[in-house]
Amino acid sequence: MSFFKYGSALLLILVAVGESLIIPRSTVPVTDYDVLVIGGGPSGLSALSGLARVRRKTLMLDSAEYRNQNTRHMHDIIGNDGKSSHLELSPNKSAGTVPAVFRYNAREMIAKYPTAYMKNATATSIVSVNNGSSFVTTDANGTTYSSRKIILATGLSDVLPDTPGVKDAWQRGIFWCDWCDGYEHRDQSFGILGSIVDAVGSVIESETLFHDIIAFVNGTYTDENVAILDKNRPGWVTELQGYGVVINNASIKSIDRIQDGAVIHNVTTDTEYDKFKVTLANGSSIERDAFLTNFPSIQHSTLGSSLGVEVYGEKMIVNPDSMRTAALGVFAVGDANSDNATNVPHAMYSGKKAAVYVHVEIEKEHAATFLQKREAENIHERMGHDLEDLWKRLSSD
Ligand SMILES: Cc1cc2nc3c(=O)[nH]c(=O)nc-3n(C[C@H](O)[C@H](O)[C@H](O)COP(=O)(O)OP(=O)(O)OC[C@H]3O[C@@H](n4cnc5c(N)ncnc54)[C@H](O)[C@@H]3O)c2cc1C
Ligand SMILES: *[C@@H]1O[C@H](CO)[C@@H](O)[C@H](O)[C@H]1NC(C)=O
Ligand SMILES: *[C@@H]1O[C@H](CO)[C@@H](O)[C@H](O)[C@H]1NC(C)=O
Ligand SMILES: *[C@@H]1O[C@H](CO)[C@@H](O)[C@H](O)[C@H]1NC(C)=O
Ligand SMILES: *[C@@H]1O[C@H](CO)[C@@H](O)[C@H](O)[C@H]1NC(C)=O
Ligand SMILES: *[C@@H]1O[C@H](CO)[C@@H](O)[C@H](O)[C@H]1NC(C)=O
Ligand SMILES: *[C@@H]1O[C@H](CO)[C@@H](O)[C@H](O)[C@H]1NC(C)=O
Ligand SMILES: *[C@@H]1O[C@H](CO)[C@@H](O)[C@H](O)[C@H]1NC(C)=O
Ligand SMILES: *[C@@H]1O[C@H](CO)[C@@H](O)[C@H](O)[C@H]1NC(C)=O
Ligand SMILES: *[C@@H]1O[C@H](CO)[C@@H](O)[C@H](O)[C@H]1NC(C)=O
Repeated sequence: MSFFKYGSALLLILVAVGESLIIPRSTVPVTDYDVLVIGGGPSGLSALSGLARVRRKTLMLDSAEYRNQNTRHMHDIIGNDGKSSHLELSPNKSAGTVPAVFRYNAREMIAKYPTAYMKNATATSIVSVNNGSSFVTTDANGTTYSSRKIILATGLSDVLPDTPGVKDAWQRGIFWCDWCDGYEHRDQSFGILGSIVDAVGSVIESETLFHDIIAFVNGTYTDENVAILDKNRPGWVTELQGYGVVINNASIKSIDRIQDGAVIHNVTTDTEYDKFKVTLANGSSIERDAFLTNFPSIQHSTLGSSLGVEVYGEKMIVNPDSMRTAALGVFAVGDANSDNATNVPHAMYSGKKAAVYVHVEIEKEHAATFLQKREAENIHERMGHDLEDLWKRLSSD
């Protein structure tokens, strides 16, 4: 018995000596923040929230040029469609939440977490250190921030035609998606802008909301585009005829606002009454109440490509299971990533998903530093064998 006591005391001493000899093979880099989130739209805010909830020290930098900056209200984000009996979110009391109010509420609620930081600044460069084991981000003022991981929530920008009137009316009567703004203009006279190649798909999406549809294809009804449609959507001419859609191929000179739906609207029925005059190349004009557009969009920021994130078309390529890009330590979320989904629910979902994977990735790297210990435990084990020998010697009298 006394030998046993003596033996375990010796074991403890040797283990203690062993601990002090362990030098981890590698350590995690020490940085200002665990994570930098670039962009403060719904995807960036969602990523920040998910990281703040598990006490990751996270800074969100935002240059505040939101894709839906000028839209009257955003829609199809459950719980944020106006007319709540408890919260008045919309100044004009019509359906939908003003995007700035949505972001304000998000910021206010996230701000209570002590590890969540937000700054209004533009990130101008991000440099990967040691093959993505950490990053140094510089903002327009020259301030630098180091972090273990990067989440790019930088969004897309819409490339609008210079046709007079379009930029002014963009997001207010000339809208980008039926889910976003179609309902408020339902059953009104409707136009589709952009290439004929995209017009057919737009008709299919719009048919439950609009019946009087003109596709203003602005000279894109060419043999080349017809060949594309014949190949990809056989029967498209018959379909359009079936829906009674008129194709107008004339060049568009201007689209002038006649009436503003922000002023002339019915809050009881959630209807906005915009009105526009489309002037064609030959001087004739046609009136329409609302338009859906098919204009191109591009990455808002080049930070992704500077980090070596691959793109196809306009999207940063991610693994949809994790929102990881192929650049180590860099994640991409929201409109800008290759999920090819461009709406607020997707922005929030993808931001949340990246937050989970970033959190776990950082912690796995931390856990690996214990694995060094376990490697050192080889030493323990060796010592253990020695101890066993010692033990045998001590007890084999
Ligand atoms: C007219 C219009 C109406 C829409 N309406 C709806 C709707 O009703 N419902 C809906 O679900 N969706 C709607 N959408 C889509 C919606 O706006 C987008 O899906 C959503 O904004 C995507 O969020 P995000 O966070 O990816 O990007 P964004 O909201 O665009 O945010 C990106 C942010 O990153 C910032 N940023 C970029 N580069 C940097 C940098 N270098 N440094 C710091 N910050 C940077 C930008 O300034 C911006 O603030 C609409 C889109 C348009 C165009
Ligand atoms: C509210 O309505 C006024 C006009 O009545 C308009 O000027 C303003 O832009 C509207 N605000 C929003 C957020 O729609
Ligand atoms: C940062 O921007 C947000 C919205 O874009 C705004 O509400 C906030 O006041 C700004 N903060 C500062 C410190 O300028
Ligand atoms: C950047 O510098 C400008 C001008 O000095 C200053 O007004 C602004 O607050 C600074 N912004 C940030 C985010 O530090
Ligand atoms: C960076 O790390 C990845 C994955 O660990 C590895 O495959 C790659 O060879 C490394 N690149 C360099 C330049 O060290
Ligand atoms: C119409 O086509 C012309 C010529 O390609 C182009 O410059 C213009 O931006 C287009 N306008 C619209 C509204 O599509
Ligand atoms: C549409 O307009 C373009 C450009 O003016 C022209 O080349 C094409 O032939 C037109 N298509 C039809 C079907 O008239
Ligand atoms: C102008 O062009 C439109 C559409 O192509 C056509 O319907 C209209 O008759 C033309 N008007 C004149 C005056 O030529
Ligand atoms: C709004 O619509 C309701 C229901 O159709 C109608 O009773 C009301 O008069 C309309 N209000 C205005 C301002 O047009
Ligand atoms: C997104 O679009 C690209 C290009 O069309 C396609 O290759 C990719 O598979 C799409 N991604 C998803 C998740 O559907």
